[in-house]
Amino acid sequence: MTTTKDFDGRELRNVLGRFYTGVTVVTSVARDGTACGVTANSFTSVSLEPPLVLWNQALTSQSHPVYCEADRFVINILAEDQVDVSQRFARPGEDKFNSIATSRGLGGVPVIDGCCAVLECRKVATHEGGDHAIFIGQVEHIISSDRSPLLFGDGKYMKALPLEPNGQR
Ligand SMILES: Cc1cc2nc3c(=O)[nH]c(=O)nc-3n(C[C@H](O)[C@H](O)[C@H](O)COP(=O)(O)O)c2cc1C
Repeated sequence: MTTTKDFDGRELRNVLGRFYTGVTVVTSVARDGTACGVTANSFTSVSLEPPLVLWNQALTSQSHPVYCEADRFVINILAEDQVDVSQRFARPGEDKFNSIATSRGLGGVPVIDGCCAVLECRKVATHEGGDHAIFIGQVEHIISSDRSPLLFGDGKYMKALPLEPNGQR
């Protein structure tokens, strides 16, 4: 165990990376109808009644102005066979949706095929969070499947390994 008070950005990232998460692609649509999507593991649940979730986005992201303006976003929770989808949406670019199968959900926001689960949200609040913006959405429609989720931790993609309640496999 190491204790550090004077940590740098890399050390902080490494420690944050010890918290393993699922992987989502948050999609939305610009005012001119252009679809956008970004890979995000900052997604978390906030409230059950009302049903609220959040994710946060770096202010420097190319697509940030779209998410600021948009009334809606969709949380596409990726399945374990969608590493390529995660990688595609983790890079800036115009052609992110090329050869990605989608349908249009509420408000015309893209819903990615083959996900583990999907939450279609209406944006209800935006908060400042240092160099990120925190977007809170009210869930209006959900899609679920029995696909296994893709996980991310320590900078790597992973598969889930279920354990019994006693901690054994
Ligand atoms: C596993 C993973 C999780 C990520 N999580 C976030 C996140 O929560 N928020 C964020 O702003 N960027 C996150 N990123 C980085 C963005 O996906 C990346 O900066 C992307 O290029 C943003 O798209 P844009 O430049 O088109 O806006 C993550 C990347 C990966 C690979």
